[in-house]
Amino acid sequence: MAANQNVLKNKGELQPTLKGELYTSPDVFELEKKNIFSESWLFVGYEYDVAEHGQYITTRINDENVLIIRGKDNVLRAFLNVCRHRGATLCSEASGTTKALRCPYHSWTYGLNGSLAGVPNANECREQLINNDDYGLEKVNLEVWNGLIWINFSENPEPAEPLLNQQIMERLGNLETFGRYQIPDLRVAHSKTYDVKANWKIIVENFQECYHCSSIHPELTEALPEFRSGVGTQNTVGAGASFKDGVEYFSISGKGSRPMLKGLLPEDDRLYYGMTIVPHVFINLTPDHVITHRIYPVSADRSIVICDWLFDPEEMAKSDFDPMDAVELFHRVNEQDFAACRWCHENMNSKAFKNGGVLVPLENHVTKFYNFVLDSIGMSSS
Ligand code: FES
Ligand SMILES: [Fe+2]
Repeated sequence: MAANQNVLKNKGELQPTLKGELYTSPDVFELEKKNIFSESWLFVGYEYDVAEHGQYITTRINDENVLIIRGKDNVLRAFLNVCRHRGATLCSEASGTTKALRCPYHSWTYGLNGSLAGVPNANECREQLINNDDYGLEKVNLEVWNGLIWINFSENPEPAEPLLNQQIMERLGNLETFGRYQIPDLRVAHSKTYDVKANWKIIVENFQECYHCSSIHPELTEALPEFRSGVGTQNTVGAGASFKDGVEYFSISGKGSRPMLKGLLPEDDRLYYGMTIVPHVFINLTPDHVITHRIYPVSADRSIVICDWLFDPEEMAKSDFDPMDAVELFHRVNEQDFAACRWCHENMNSKAFKNGGVLVPLENHVTKFYNFVLDSIGMSSS
């Protein structure tokens, strides 16, 4: 990287992108899995989905199969969803409720706290297994932050809350604005999953810059005209984007009748805030709903993106509730963004991108993300 960066530093405000191979190399992807996704707090679900004793959800991220379950003691825990006997998947369902965790293969049974409780037909070694912590389920660190469940695969991670709050502070300049959206009280009304043939970093850097907004997002720039300039708001602390005159809702039609979310103030009306929580989450705040994105990298060349639209459950309970006008707006933005990500990804092995490309000044803030990645995988030039 060093040579590329030095050359470009001499050209005014142009900054280098990452080199093409950093988006395609399986070795780099393995390093990112180990040094980024095994060390960071990862958003994997919503606390309200595991509110009751015995309720669980499962997810697969960073090549691990994870089970999140609420114990009889009301504690929410995460475990690797892997039986300690011969490695079978304990829970194959995406969600459910259970009194105990029984492996389908040989019926070893675990308590909701992960301890091994039952081993059939193993009398001579039953005590040895059950009285040994080594055979309980492997724990994964878990924290709930603003109603969102975050897990961390590392041994002793720093607590999630200050790290996540810090990213909100850097974007919004305070925590109060974010808090007013009262995300723990919202519910997912609609969810879409996108299978994107692009490296996860291309998806992050695309979300962070708005240089492309006027080219590929006609509906978004119709709602948020200032995005036509390409400046965006993510690089300005506290900045939200104002709706165009006459646009009342962040939706395709710009029309609607839902009230603002309960905690919001008049100053929050007709504003959109987008933010990135590194490494893999985007959060979008609008007056009547919140949109979350989480990227699950699958390989260097493929990422799954889950996008959820959250609303006030009181509104969702109304017979005329229909989120699709709002859903359609960001769904189109997603499709446009992910197409652009594919356009780039398919050329990352080209000779033309061997030394990477350039960021224009409007995009320079993406360099911070690049430096995070390079530092994390030990390829920083400094
Ligand atoms: S693999 Fe789970 S009981 Fe055998
Ligand atoms: Fe975009």
